[in-house]
Amino acid sequence: MPDLKQSRPKGTQDFVPPDSERRRRVEGAFRSLAECYGYREIITPTFEHTAVFVKSSGEASDVVTKEMYSFKDRAGRDLALRAEGTPGVVRAVVENRLRMPCRLYYVGPYFRYSRPQKGRYREFNQVGVEALGEASPLTDAEVISFGNAFFESLGIGDCTTQVNSIGCRECRPAHRAVLREFLLERKEQLCADCQVRIERNPLRVFDCKVETCRQAVQDAPTPRQYLCPACQSHLGQVLVGLDRRGLRYAMNDRLVRGLDYYNRTTFEYISASLGAQDSLGGGGRYDYLVEEFGGPDTPGIGLAIGLERTMLAMPEETQPARRKLVFVVWLSEAELVAAEKLAVLLRAGGIPARIDYDARKVKGQFRSADAAQAAGCVVIGPDELARGVYSLKDMVTGEQQEVPADTIADAIRARFKD
Ligand code: HAM
Repeated sequence: MPDLKQSRPKGTQDFVPPDSERRRRVEGAFRSLAECYGYREIITPTFEHTAVFVKSSGEASDVVTKEMYSFKDRAGRDLALRAEGTPGVVRAVVENRLRMPCRLYYVGPYFRYSRPQKGRYREFNQVGVEALGEASPLTDAEVISFGNAFFESLGIGDCTTQVNSIGCRECRPAHRAVLREFLLERKEQLCADCQVRIERNPLRVFDCKVETCRQAVQDAPTPRQYLCPACQSHLGQVLVGLDRRGLRYAMNDRLVRGLDYYNRTTFEYISASLGAQDSLGGGGRYDYLVEEFGGPDTPGIGLAIGLERTMLAMPEETQPARRKLVFVVWLSEAELVAAEKLAVLLRAGGIPARIDYDARKVKGQFRSADAAQAAGCVVIGPDELARGVYSLKDMVTGEQQEVPADTIADAIRARFKD
């Protein structure tokens, strides 16, 4: 039994170097790509009034009923750590009266109380985009292909894109009624949760992972069979947009997604390499959500991608690259002053530099450089100082070369390229 004081809470993770750096690189790739598509960053609080999630993610959704970290603050307010990004973004868009159309992206931590396993954590990170005020099905196609472009940029090749449409306010009631009838006839086969879902939100049964429920809905009427002409046409144009981009996708009639705000297009990215938690990301259209938050009638569509799952699906980096960091190694107090000056000079020129002030011996300083994964060491001895040269050591190959003092920065740049 580990000492609880020394272990992190269940379902949380530490990102230590170099994983922290790898994560920042993935986040950086996402930011650049999102900005390329005209999205701008939005940063919202990590906790919101609980009602924000209840009325958007849905009071019958798993995220709200089972997974939400909700609490009362000292003044008795009902608050919850955010379990997903869309509700807070829409709340902020309405509260700050952002001008439409408006494209936003976000990167940050989210919290869900679920059983931890590979790819599923209680604190995890998402990157996401929301396009508000865009009704065209071509936006749907662009948002879907944005996700694919992101995975592709990271070398993730085994990702399947699933697409569906769950209809709108016009066509959903008819589907809901036949689905309810269908499920009532098979009530005994359903788990306790799904029996409740029949009345509260029968569509949720499609999401259930329990085997008997999965079998029960095998031949259930699907939302796509009940789409109104406008929703059919919308879906058709989304698919044309995807085809035009040469994007491969699979229709999945059961893809209803676990959140209540969706209408029409839903989609998910599935990776074969992830095991049970195989969804890399997903999203959909939510044309009623802004209005539900008290804003004007505004369409919206977005997606969110799990950062940890993305990192699990990424190919291993071949040779973990040494950082472009140099240690300035000194022999005695006399050279320490010169070492300090050189470190200042190198940093000013954009070269990360460190000095080991504690290790008295050169060997110890080299050891520190190695522990820090430094690419090289610049050695300053009395002899070198007198002759106006430094000795530059490559920490990977062990090679050492003498470099005139005034060209040391260039020599480092040439040898340790990014
Ligand atoms: P979601 O499908 O609930 O959608 O989450 C998106 C992604 O977050 C998942 O596909 C998965 O990669 C990751 N994820 C979810 N839960 C966990 C967990 N416990 N541990 C690790 N990763 C997890 C949404 O959140 C919607 N807000 C997406 C959206 C944006 N729809 C419209 N706009």
